[in-house]
Amino acid sequence: MENKKLEQLQKYTINNEEKAGLTTNQGLKMAEDEFSLKAGERGPTLMEDFHFREKMTHFDHERIPERVVHARGVGAHGIFQLYESLADYTKADFLTDPSKTTPVFVRFSTVQGSRGSSDTVRDVRGFATKFYTDEGNFDLVGNNMPVFFIQDAIKFPDFVHAVKPEPHNEIPQGASAHDTFWDFIGQNPESAHMVMWHMSDRAIPRSLRMMEGFGVHTFRLINADGQAHFVKFHWKPALGVHSLVWDEAQRIAGKNPDFHRQDLYEAIEKGDFPEWELGLQLIPEEDEHKFDFDILDPTKLWPEEEVPVKIVGKMTLNRNVDNFFAETEQVAFHPGHVVPGIDFSNDPLLQGRLFSYTDTQLSRLGGPNFHQIPINQPVCPFHNNQRDGMHQMNIHHGQTSYHRNGLNANQPKPVPADQGGYEHYQEKIDGRKIRGRSESFRDFYSQAKLFYNSLSPFEQRHLKDALSFELGKCKSDAVKANAVALLNHIDRELAEETAENIGAPIPKENCEVTSSKKSPALS
Ligand code: HEM
Repeated sequence: MENKKLEQLQKYTINNEEKAGLTTNQGLKMAEDEFSLKAGERGPTLMEDFHFREKMTHFDHERIPERVVHARGVGAHGIFQLYESLADYTKADFLTDPSKTTPVFVRFSTVQGSRGSSDTVRDVRGFATKFYTDEGNFDLVGNNMPVFFIQDAIKFPDFVHAVKPEPHNEIPQGASAHDTFWDFIGQNPESAHMVMWHMSDRAIPRSLRMMEGFGVHTFRLINADGQAHFVKFHWKPALGVHSLVWDEAQRIAGKNPDFHRQDLYEAIEKGDFPEWELGLQLIPEEDEHKFDFDILDPTKLWPEEEVPVKIVGKMTLNRNVDNFFAETEQVAFHPGHVVPGIDFSNDPLLQGRLFSYTDTQLSRLGGPNFHQIPINQPVCPFHNNQRDGMHQMNIHHGQTSYHRNGLNANQPKPVPADQGGYEHYQEKIDGRKIRGRSESFRDFYSQAKLFYNSLSPFEQRHLKDALSFELGKCKSDAVKANAVALLNHIDRELAEETAENIGAPIPKENCEVTSSKKSPALS
């Protein structure tokens, strides 16, 4: 089967198994590679030893910064196959032509830990997919939980500072067993829903092959007639959803920190290819306000009974990477990588993400040309008037490099929409400029309660135990009391039992958490 990405990557492959003499990076064949150049048999190494200097310098610079979040990950290649045309909803070529197979690259990750941390920790898992479509790359940069901790991107640095190990001693490595994490949760009650997912068995998956994936945000699909639907993206694993139990997860973390990446790698090597079906929840543009929550709020899911998930295609991961660094480490996902027929919503978390990814990749991947790294290149041609920059790998011919150009008729020019050029959806915007939050985002607890009540008794037991374990590690009484006060808004018995287990006061029936700040601009 034709796979344009595989063919493209093969052009960059260097095969060390082929017999070749050892040279320097300048192509000079070397007669010796084990001994540095010395002044006398037992003398000092000479500065003129260019071979030693080149080899050591390259080694000294082998590491690049790890991702600021989602540092630990594992990737694999695959394909996406659409079941039937979605032309009623979108003009995206890869979602309208079922005869096409689209190459994909997926990177799974934990969020909090460093590159060398363990796989089976209690954490959210990243589930990022790059579709190499004929119209450019579309990245679905999701998680294995359908909602998020915060509603506005401006809080993300605060959230991550609270989640990462505490700065004075870099303890603890665990995602959620410390004061700063629970302080943040208690101070930001919008996190109530997500923290229930985080304390549930969903945060300790059995295998990466047994996780759901969610785009989390509301996006838009636009068809060829310009009609729009709001959409949420889902991945449904063919193997079903399975979790570890906490004790098992901790033992595995000690005995085999690579448990998940090894499981994925070995399954693919054996030909036991993991599969997910892509699902869409669709809401027509005119139904935006028909729900008892705001569909732009990323702490809310769309109940599947109200908005069913339409299964539209299948992804199969069928090839391991050839080189972890070149592919998994250097891949650059971005929720802003879209194709014609897919657009954003005004979800304030998504809007901020649209800035953050390229910005961080500029320093992580060393300048503005990281789209030229093989794993990041689209399979369709790309050309524009951008030039130069660190690590430029292309040689642009000609005298000119600007648009509106009378000297060169072939200079890259915008492409009209009817020939495939991307046009933004013309959403009507009307409002005051404010720094605030819509009142429609203020119900923090209803879906947290729904989630907790939807769990079976043993799942609720696991969640209660997780809360007592994680909160029990906090040192601050105030942090514990405030976290329990938050739980009190979700379930009385849950709050009482946790309070007892961690030695916190039982909260009054209707006590407030210390911060549920109103938007100053709206109050
Ligand atoms: C990675 C920012 C929320 C999913 C990252 C990275 C940054 C970032 C800076 C590192 C990227 C890199 O170095 O290549 C943010 C900000 C957020 C946010 C500012 C909120 C305002 C989310 C949400 C999701 C998510 C809600 C899930 C829907 C991911 C994933 C990765 C990632 C999966 C890892 C991508 C990979 O495997 O390379 N994020 N993030 N993030 N983020 Fe977010």
